[in-house]
Amino acid sequence: MTTVDDSPSTPLGGTVSSSTGNGAAAAPTQSFSVPRRYFADSSDWESELERIFRHSWLFVAHESEIPEPGDYVTRLMGTDQVIVSRTESGDVRTMLNSCTHRGTLLCKADVGNASHFRCGYHGWTFANDGKLTGVPRYRELYGADFDKASFNLRAARTESFHGLLFATFDADQVSLRDYLGDMAFYLECFLGVSAAGTEAPYGAFRFLHQGNWKLEADNFSGDGYHLRHAHRAGFDLGLMGSQAGSTEGVCIQFEHGHTIRAQRTAGVEEIAFPGYPEERWPEIRSQLSPAQVEMFANSTVMHGTIFPNLSFLHTPRAGGFDPGDVDAAMVQLRVFNPVGPDTTDELCWLVAPTDYAEDWKESAFKTMQRQHGATAFFESDDMENFRRMLQVNSGVETRARVAANFDLAHDHAPYEAWFDGPGNIVGSDISEVNQRWFYQHYLDLMEG
Ligand code: FES
Ligand SMILES: [Fe+2]
Repeated sequence: MTTVDDSPSTPLGGTVSSSTGNGAAAAPTQSFSVPRRYFADSSDWESELERIFRHSWLFVAHESEIPEPGDYVTRLMGTDQVIVSRTESGDVRTMLNSCTHRGTLLCKADVGNASHFRCGYHGWTFANDGKLTGVPRYRELYGADFDKASFNLRAARTESFHGLLFATFDADQVSLRDYLGDMAFYLECFLGVSAAGTEAPYGAFRFLHQGNWKLEADNFSGDGYHLRHAHRAGFDLGLMGSQAGSTEGVCIQFEHGHTIRAQRTAGVEEIAFPGYPEERWPEIRSQLSPAQVEMFANSTVMHGTIFPNLSFLHTPRAGGFDPGDVDAAMVQLRVFNPVGPDTTDELCWLVAPTDYAEDWKESAFKTMQRQHGATAFFESDDMENFRRMLQVNSGVETRARVAANFDLAHDHAPYEAWFDGPGNIVGSDISEVNQRWFYQHYLDLMEG
């Protein structure tokens, strides 16, 4: 007869948190792990939608996607379908894309321009600000006193940060600016380089991937560890672009679970902005504060996650991909919407300074598509791992008793931060400090 050891084979949870002066949860100070069921379990996915997605500020569109009155895009906020519309008065509204009569999907297109949306079932008609304006035969069938105003589309709060539109259905959530908090300082480094602002010149790109949404959010939050292994072929083949000198990095954590990893060329005195046209450098210096210039100068990469599901990647690339390409800096946004515990609906945008030259934007776009398009080499490397993680995390024994570990550089990181600015700065380039931060906030919401 054999006996079964029913104790967990790796610790489940086991985190310690405390409060910092700015109200953010402190980084876990002990061994940190996340039960694998959170990456595969349907009931946990339902809880995520309720506890996290329903209450967070979620990125829905770039303002440049809907510049004119009547322009709209249809998007997801978690699993809720929404219309993001520029109204006749120029405001932006984010509304549930569901007829308030019996609930049919109201707008079936991804993008368009319309003054009204007419339901395909019984013909109720809504203005592009969500007001119910037309109900066939309502005097005869509902009565002349039928109150149309009580059937307007359900609207979310919508706020903008440097052209990035976020929405939330939580009336009690803090303002978007307060939600971003100290992270705004860093986002402005690349969103604020031009007085003309930013645009998403090529619109949004969409694909489904078979994996849990958190794997990408944690990867973008600060996984410098996987680069030389998962993406080794890209380095070996010289597809990663040139990089002068050695680099040094910092990880930065913010209230509400946001994270950034920033890396720069080490030991350079001269202030340079790689990827940006040299004639625009004086403008960058005038647009940014001295502290932002210090952070952004000689940047080799900056990436992070705005909790829960918007990640960004800023990286300059010298020489583009093909002969004749100009130097450019890619800013990519990507949103991970969990349409199931095992399926993620992704949207990606290139964001560029509005008044930069077309060949600069095209070079940046080529970098995004060649590295991170749905079939690009970076993407393929990561997706293979994410699919395999889903495959094993779905196992019953795995979900019940095994955890994912995040102890990298717990006590062994080279803690010498080269930057002293907003947020909790940890002088660690290759570590899992940011993943611990992301998941600590996640677990606080899921288990709190
Ligand atoms: S469901 Fe839209 S009009 Fe009936
Ligand atoms: Fe990767």
